[in-house]
Amino acid sequence: MKKFIIFVSFSLLFSYLGFFNVSLANAESCINCHRGVTPGLVKDWEASKHSKMEITCSTCHGDKHTGPHNVKLAQLPDETLCAQCHKKQFDEFAKGKHSFGWTSLNAMPITHVEPDELMEGGRGCGGCHNMGIKTEAQKKEQSAKGYRYQNNSCDECHTRHSFSKKEALDPKACQQCHMGYDHPQWEMWESSKHGTRWFVKNSENLPENAQAPSCQNCHLPEGTHENRTAWGFLGVKLPLPEDPQWKADRITILKALGVLNPETGEPTARLEAVKSVDMVRLTEESWKTERDKMIKRCGNCHSAQYARQQLEMGDSMMQKSDRLLAEAIQIVADLYKDGIIKKPNKYSFAYPDFLYFMQTGGGDTNKLSYIDQVLFQMYMKHRMRTYQAFFHVNPDYAYWYGWAMMVKDLGNIKELAQTMRATHHK
Ligand code: HEC
Ligand code: HEC
Ligand code: HEC
Ligand code: HEC
Ligand code: HEC
Ligand code: HEC
Ligand code: HEC
Ligand code: HEC
Repeated sequence: MKKFIIFVSFSLLFSYLGFFNVSLANAESCINCHRGVTPGLVKDWEASKHSKMEITCSTCHGDKHTGPHNVKLAQLPDETLCAQCHKKQFDEFAKGKHSFGWTSLNAMPITHVEPDELMEGGRGCGGCHNMGIKTEAQKKEQSAKGYRYQNNSCDECHTRHSFSKKEALDPKACQQCHMGYDHPQWEMWESSKHGTRWFVKNSENLPENAQAPSCQNCHLPEGTHENRTAWGFLGVKLPLPEDPQWKADRITILKALGVLNPETGEPTARLEAVKSVDMVRLTEESWKTERDKMIKRCGNCHSAQYARQQLEMGDSMMQKSDRLLAEAIQIVADLYKDGIIKKPNKYSFAYPDFLYFMQTGGGDTNKLSYIDQVLFQMYMKHRMRTYQAFFHVNPDYAYWYGWAMMVKDLGNIKELAQTMRATHHK
């Protein structure tokens, strides 16, 4: 009996060692060959904590691919692989807004009329909205179109293969996506006092303990991976405001977003799509929860009262910019109503539709008229800047790139409408 036990123990030990040898040998072979094939990538992996913990190529890519002849067998891991060891971060990420990036992109009508390279291929819209968990159906659609990469969102802030925490804590990790035309948070923060201080501190011209808030301090505090703001990107919420003028203006904007039927005022199917990806806060409490969290974060450095007042000014600028925008929408909508602008075939209604984005047309009547483009820019570029700059404490964006441009857009729209009416032949 004793002999048998010893025999069994030995064989178990050997088979364990055998397994270990195979997987280590495998790891060695991946690394050895890839040192030649992709040397930079191996250096990056070597710089990672993973390499110190024996989390090797085959842990993430499997061991079926063994050389140049079977490259297709290498698995490209999605977020669920990372979740096996980083459950907390994955669970938080899955609750936050970033997890919806891909689905909200695909909920837009514009996505389906633009080149695939800009979507599934991962440049253009898809180059930023690949931040998001894809459903099985979405992955199938992508691979059916021949696109193999872009399966993982975790590597958007902790880029592969160094997968570093320090990198993700640097505001530059956010820059690629949070910049530019309709969400220049990077530019606004960078040139605000908050950002300036951060850079001055980094060049060691402020004491080590000087405070300077980064994007992460305000949006991903204490290591959380769940992100959400009160107003969000569209800058609308429910229920509608009590102030009668603001309420009317908001309804006009919701019609131009295609979530309310412009003829009946009833909700459309698009409202469901918007709701399903958490694009707008649907109750006063859910809005207030996010706002209160933010004020607490400001409260690390400012008095709560100071912070609250700063943010409330952002809200009232939202109201004032909604007034300008709604007036402009109404002017263009009247041109549709009077048959001076023809409804593009794709549109559901003879009414401006912001979610077709730019679709510029020149003489093509099936695309946006010029006045529609001015209106779109007023919404997507200038209204965004007006309120986003307020929240990111940037004086120049708030005035010159935001409010002043909205006022100018409205003036342009008025003049254009007059000319269009004067020169229109029935
Ligand atoms: C004998 C050399 C060799 C070995 C061993 C090897 N690879 Fe590769 N691997 C390659 C080559 C060559 C490519 C294709 C590179 C290219 O497209 O330029 C590749 C590509 C890949 C890709 C990218 C797949 C894609 O679709 O772009 C991954 C991931 C990968 N290898 C992981 C591994 C892992 C994990 C192992 C070990 C289990 C491994 N490799 C072992 C040579 C090797
Ligand atoms: C912690 C998990 C992890 C480890 C460890 C890992 N990879 Fe990757 N690798 C990824 C992810 C995630 C992607 C991106 C997948 C996608 O885009 O769909 C990727 C992509 C790749 C690609 C294709 C993209 C490109 O940039 O060329 C290659 C090649 C690759 N890995 C090779 C390796 C090799 C070789 C090793 C070991 C030295 C390794 N990986 C270790 C997670 C890992
Ligand atoms: C098999 C388990 C395992 C898998 C799978 C795995 N990791 Fe890790 N990861 C670890 C361990 C262990 C550490 C080191 C933890 C420590 O030192 O505290 C680590 C550390 C990290 C860190 C912190 C690095 C730092 O600079 O402190 C990040 C970020 C990270 N992993 C991201 C990922 C991502 C993204 C994926 C998926 C592509 C992934 N990991 C897959 C086990 C894993
Ligand atoms: C440079 C990166 C980038 C590109 C390119 C980009 N987006 Fe975005 N998109 C973002 C970011 C970042 C946000 C969140 C902005 C915010 O909240 O201020 C966003 C927000 C959105 C939202 C709102 C999501 C929500 O839940 O509030 C939609 C819809 C959207 N984008 C669609 C598109 C479409 C369609 C395209 C291409 C025509 C596109 N985006 C191109 C980065 C990008
Ligand atoms: C929007 C950027 C962003 C994305 C996307 C992201 N992370 Fe992180 N991650 C961070 C930041 C910032 C930190 C540093 C948190 C801290 O310590 O304050 C971090 C830290 C980590 C750590 C180290 C935790 C520790 O305390 O050592 C791990 C592990 C990690 N992330 C895993 C993941 C995984 C898994 C995913 C995908 C589900 C992911 N991250 C996606 C920004 C991101
Ligand atoms: C001092 C704190 C703070 C810093 C630093 C900060 N933000 Fe914000 N951010 C806010 C506030 C406040 C809001 C609006 C919250 C609300 O809706 O009540 C906001 C809103 C946002 C939004 C939603 C749309 C918008 O702009 O209103 C995004 C996206 C965003 N921030 C990204 C970033 C990025 C990226 C950085 C760094 C480049 C950054 N933020 C830096 C406080 C900050
Ligand atoms: C790869 C692109 C990408 C990177 C990198 C990125 N984001 Fe985002 N972010 C997005 C997209 C896309 C959205 C909109 C997601 C959606 O559809 O809801 C978004 C949304 C947000 C929101 C939610 C705004 C709202 O609607 O409430 C915040 C806050 C935010 N990001 C902060 C950050 C911070 C902070 C970083 C850096 C640590 C960062 N992001 C890095 C693409 C990115
Ligand atoms: C980590 C600390 C920190 C956090 C968090 C923080 N701030 Fe600041 N804030 C500063 C510092 C430091 C200054 C520059 C002080 C000065 O102007 O003398 C500043 C300046 C300001 C200014 C004045 C800018 C100017 O041009 O004079 C405003 C407004 C402001 N913060 C609002 C906010 C709001 C709103 C929040 C939360 C969304 C916030 N801050 C979060 C540290 C912080």
